[in-house]
Amino acid sequence: MSSVEIEMIRNQLPGWIKASLPYAASGEVASYIPELSKAPPDALGITLLDANGDVATAGDCHMHFTMQSISKVFTLILSLMDNGEDAVFRKVGMEPTGDNFNSMLKLELVRPGIPFNPMINAGAITVTSLIHGSSPQEKIERILHFFRKIAGNDRLRYDMDVYQSELENANLNRSIAYFLKENGVLETPVEEILDVYIHHCSILVNCADLARMALVLALGGIDPQTGKQLIPRRYVRIARTFMTTCGMYNASGEFAIDVGLPAKSGVSGGIMTLVPGRYGIGVVGPALNDKGNSQAGVQLLEMISKEMEWSMF
Ligand code: DON
Repeated sequence: MSSVEIEMIRNQLPGWIKASLPYAASGEVASYIPELSKAPPDALGITLLDANGDVATAGDCHMHFTMQSISKVFTLILSLMDNGEDAVFRKVGMEPTGDNFNSMLKLELVRPGIPFNPMINAGAITVTSLIHGSSPQEKIERILHFFRKIAGNDRLRYDMDVYQSELENANLNRSIAYFLKENGVLETPVEEILDVYIHHCSILVNCADLARMALVLALGGIDPQTGKQLIPRRYVRIARTFMTTCGMYNASGEFAIDVGLPAKSGVSGGIMTLVPGRYGIGVVGPALNDKGNSQAGVQLLEMISKEMEWSMF
């Protein structure tokens, strides 16, 4: 039997979606990766999942979209599992930047020239470069295998159209990567690292996949079905902390005040968030605000969190 709370959420979700959807009109679908501009600007969907497998969904929750920056949470975790904390945090910091996600400003301004955190592009590219594998192909396969395990979905796959579209328009990330290489932060060939990074940004999911991935984080790294520890608890804590301090880029402070949950957004309009110990949540709304976060998605989460009194703070 479903919990009383999830029943209540199920009943309220359509109304919350209806109230949040108009906000999408003031956002814009990302177009710097041309393939992403095909997404419907007025879509909004949500899936919420608890440890018993009870689900609440509404809106365009079945729509597929690429993870983009949400993948950075799990490549960070995989990199930590491969290398340990010391090796990872020698190359990437732990502090928010206050800059855009694809900014390279501080790489030159602040010494040592390592990225501020693993959620901005410079930091994520660095973290990706550390993932184990004897070739880019092996790394790409290991990443997909890991993501499938966390999502509990063997059908997760790379969207090769989005991958190709980003690869052909990755000049800014290419500049960041060459800068990092020059600073000695990246130690393997730049084009190979970018290939792996762009692949993991192109992993195709829906809200249910994001909700299940978030639920594993909400449960301290435990698989809700088997009870197996999929991710060491310490690395879950690190990931959830970065989601809180840097997951919504330079709107992370505002999101912490208004919603109060660890979250990670992506330019395709996805947001992955969680209520510690209780729920994993996946949201999609492709129209973005000026900070690169889903305009209606943020609004929807703010409404639900306030109503349910979920803020951690
Ligand atoms: O590197 C990029 O630009 C994209 N693949 C990911 C950026 C992203 O999702 C930033 N999110 N808000």
